[in-house]
Amino acid sequence: MENNDIALSDKEFSNVKSRLLEVAGISLSNAKRTLVISRLSKVMRKLSINSFSNYLEFLDSPRATKTDKQDFVNALTTNLTRFYREDHHFDHLISHIGKIIAQKPRTNAAGKPRLRIWSAGCSTGQEPYTIAMCLINKYPELKRWDFKILASDIDTDVVNKAAMGIYPESELAGLSPERARIFERKGDGTIHIPKEMRQTITFKPLNLFDPWPIKGPFDAIFCRNVAIYFDKPVQDKLFAQLGEVLAPDGYMYIGHSENVGRNSTQFSLVGKTIYSSLKSVEKSQVA
Ligand SMILES: C[S@@+](CC[C@H](N)C(=O)[O-])C[C@H]1O[C@@H](n2cnc3c(N)ncnc32)[C@H](O)[C@@H]1O
Repeated sequence: MENNDIALSDKEFSNVKSRLLEVAGISLSNAKRTLVISRLSKVMRKLSINSFSNYLEFLDSPRATKTDKQDFVNALTTNLTRFYREDHHFDHLISHIGKIIAQKPRTNAAGKPRLRIWSAGCSTGQEPYTIAMCLINKYPELKRWDFKILASDIDTDVVNKAAMGIYPESELAGLSPERARIFERKGDGTIHIPKEMRQTITFKPLNLFDPWPIKGPFDAIFCRNVAIYFDKPVQDKLFAQLGEVLAPDGYMYIGHSENVGRNSTQFSLVGKTIYSSLKSVEKSQVA
């Protein structure tokens, strides 16, 4: 504990956990106790609140603003991410989109070929930018398509950061020269995402357990290292909802330690943490 950290009783810790489960679906393990103390102590000090009980009471009172409630969630999310994380997913995506381009793509109301990808739980943006960089680099014709990536996260701080598309140069560590070349180096220790990649992405704050202002269908959904923070029934509910908005010939990519479960009626495991929609099987059986 740091000197100015605020003491947290067992009861208060249990109340913090209940609140986070209720508002974000996130199950905090007991191992996160120190993290809760240090992160929420900072928030509480800014509010001049000196006990967790008073803070939790404040959050439930009419005095707490939307921002105060959001700050509680932002402080407790885990946002670890990186460019090209689990890069076999991007190899698979490139080949999937290549097939869509070669076959007859879906079109929008104006008859333009349409492609939609969702990065659900995008954190600071490295995941949706990797998707954009891989695809536009490989298939420049996508610049003329109705091609959009939705990138959403419950944490408004990371969504704001992601939308800027600016990162420290150290993020290039471990990337091949071919991948690193796509970033714009500014010579001031930062790298920027090129505008043509940035403008394919819409960043939105979204709690996955609130109603979705999204119909799909998505040709691909990335929901990686997000469900890991949820209990199994919450995970099942989320995957079932994602299955509804995934296109019949679409794929869902999840985190390396996550799984949809063998009994899913919506997904079939087709690669390492890669699922195809079972709607495609129904469709091809009918055809
Ligand atoms: C570890 S990051 C994963 C980032 C990226 N998908 C990746 O794999 O590199 C998990 C993200 O899930 C977000 N998250 C957690 N609960 C959420 C919820 N209920 N709705 C939306 N996003 C959530 C967190 O804010 C965090 O940014």
